[in-house]
Amino acid sequence: MALIAPSILSADFSKLREEVEMINSSNADWFHVDVMDGVFVPNISFGFPVIKQVKKYAKKPLDVHLMIVQPERYVQEFKDAGADILTVHLEASPHLDRTLQLIKAAGMQAGVAINPHTAINQLEDIITDIDLVCLMSVNPGFGGQKFIPGTFSKLEKLRKLIDSTGSKARIEIDGGVGSGNAAELIKAGADVLVAGNFVFSSANPVETIALLKKI
Ligand code: DX5
Ligand code: ZN
Repeated sequence: MALIAPSILSADFSKLREEVEMINSSNADWFHVDVMDGVFVPNISFGFPVIKQVKKYAKKPLDVHLMIVQPERYVQEFKDAGADILTVHLEASPHLDRTLQLIKAAGMQAGVAINPHTAINQLEDIITDIDLVCLMSVNPGFGGQKFIPGTFSKLEKLRKLIDSTGSKARIEIDGGVGSGNAAELIKAGADVLVAGNFVFSSANPVETIALLKKI
């Protein structure tokens, strides 16, 4: 059974507390929290004040996905804001090994995200040091985009890499996930499914989360 991580990027921010309580009351496992800086990706989302408010009411771990350049500058601040898992982009951190060490030293689980064009073999030298790989199945920057089918061959390669190295990293699929592809993704070895638009645009998000969880 995969973990389900609704992305609050698609939530209604005018009633953020209700949205947090909705996730608390659902079968979801984590809160997926997308931070965008307008530099690494062509969009700006939200920062520390919003994450702190989510943390105040969240009863599940915060899975924070940083789409920002030089994420190493803010590791402690994200810890202080309430991140439990902190994921940085391989493409945004030239000293990735050092960044991952900083994340772990701050007491968080460490994740690495890769864009659709980034090859799985670039993860080889760090795969046994991390807790999560966030495999982007859309180009990061926006919720509600279409799933990129090439993700499946990358997922297969990543599953093999993790299993053959004894890495404990979970595979998270992020972007365009819904009931149309969730079963196939889980079958191919996904451990965590992020879902933003699919959950929040549905008539009954709690039921939609339950539906994903049952797959
Ligand atoms: C995209 C974000 C995703 C996004 C997923 O840049 O990293 O987490 O919110 O949203 P959906 O499920 O709507 O594609
Ligand atoms: Zn994300």
